[in-house]
Amino acid sequence: MQETCKTLKAADLEKLEEICARRGADQGAVIPILQDIQEVFGYLSEDAVNFAADRLEMPRSHFYGVATFYAQFHLRPRGRNVVTACTGTTCHVKGSENLISILGRELGIPEGQDTSPDMNYTLEKINCVGACSIAPVIIINNGVHSKMNADKITKEVIKLKGADDGKQRGKD
Ligand code: FES
Repeated sequence: MQETCKTLKAADLEKLEEICARRGADQGAVIPILQDIQEVFGYLSEDAVNFAADRLEMPRSHFYGVATFYAQFHLRPRGRNVVTACTGTTCHVKGSENLISILGRELGIPEGQDTSPDMNYTLEKINCVGACSIAPVIIINNGVHSKMNADKITKEVIKLKGADDGKQRGKD
């Protein structure tokens, strides 16, 4: 048995065990198990993926192959709000690079990283979301924003931060 579960707490192990037991142990269970793990933990940690692979007695490489193939899976923690910028050709020609710099700066995401240190915001890039006629396109927490420019993006960030502060205050 390979080394596993260095950082998993007993409660996490229980949740993983429950997911694996519910989903079964054949090849077809791999994607649903990864989806469930991501749903419960927010992302696919190395320990969680290793646990599931070992539990199903499948090569860990198979799980990682699936996890890295599909864009829906995330191997690193993401912020509570996810902003996705399209970097496809049409959006690029219409200024997406500038919008991405503005977003990075306004959301406090350090150079070379994709998530703010406070874990509030993740900025992702995607290659053509299939809405080129309304380029450049930005997606904020699943809401599509069309024909963006610097002014519109700044307003949307202000709205996002306001909504986020409200949510945080609601928890206090
Ligand atoms: S290039 Fe951005 S939507 Fe197609």
